[in-house]
Amino acid sequence: MKKILLATSKPFAKVAVDGIKKIIADAGYELVLLENYTEQEDLIKAVSDVDAVIIRSDIVDKRVLEAAKNMKLVVRAGAGTDNVDKNFAKEKNIIVMNTPGQNSNAVGELVAGMMVYTARNSFNGTSGFELRGKKLGLHAFGYTGKAVNAIAKGFGMEVYAYDPFVKPEAMKAEGVTPVNTIEELYSTCQFVSLHTPATPETINSINYNLLSKMPKNAVLINSARKEVINEADLIKVFTDRPDFKYASDVAPDNSAEIAEKFAGRYFFTPKKMGAQTSEANINAGLAAANQIVNYFKNGDDKYRVN
Ligand code: 3PG
Repeated sequence: MKKILLATSKPFAKVAVDGIKKIIADAGYELVLLENYTEQEDLIKAVSDVDAVIIRSDIVDKRVLEAAKNMKLVVRAGAGTDNVDKNFAKEKNIIVMNTPGQNSNAVGELVAGMMVYTARNSFNGTSGFELRGKKLGLHAFGYTGKAVNAIAKGFGMEVYAYDPFVKPEAMKAEGVTPVNTIEELYSTCQFVSLHTPATPETINSINYNLLSKMPKNAVLINSARKEVINEADLIKVFTDRPDFKYASDVAPDNSAEIAEKFAGRYFFTPKKMGAQTSEANINAGLAAANQIVNYFKNGDDKYRVN
């Protein structure tokens, strides 16, 4: 009997776990749960005899993969796979998949909330500004960028996007103005929302050069990864530009310094929570379970990323 592990240090809603249990049981497999764990050693122990694992941002590095003697498949219930050593998995003939798009609406709604929060001065009662008519730049136009666009249209924002992997026609079809360079996106848009994955090319790439180009009352929203921000440059921008605000789903490493020096101009979630809705948990969790069953029963590796 195949053994499937659900390993989530940040657990799914119960309704999603119940759905995963049913899919795995209906397939005739056994489900093992490792939720809310805090030590990496617990994950290393739990993977030792399983055939597949469903994870979220859980770290699946060389040590975990070395310990996973029977592992054939790692499914990241979500979008970003920067938490998985995909190359080492490939060397070990372990397939890595994600579940693209399944949690995008949840992240998109959080971005909208962070835009309103910053525009309305952290809901402190002072006079802020409206989103209507403002320019929003989407730095990457994948599933989440599209979800943010749909919501921003409701606010009456003008939406621009930079994404070298998406054809300009596809952006125009969604009412978005494509721009040709990252610099153009930042110099055009008062609001910029980040949707790039963390890769060697994007890590540290959001720097002073880009942020200093943003128009007056600039707001940077980061629901992607903290690693894409050059944190030393972020401090420099906060210092040079009293009109600059930053809202991020998960605090940067230098959050204490930002909190001390730039009160009222930042917002950080205490824990990455863009995808923390029961709907997103159900969508991504059930998709992950179905992908595992489809792979073992039919060899379907459609969402493979390595
Ligand atoms: C993702 O990459 O899908 C999002 O960042 C959500 O990650 P999470 O499932 O760890 O909340």
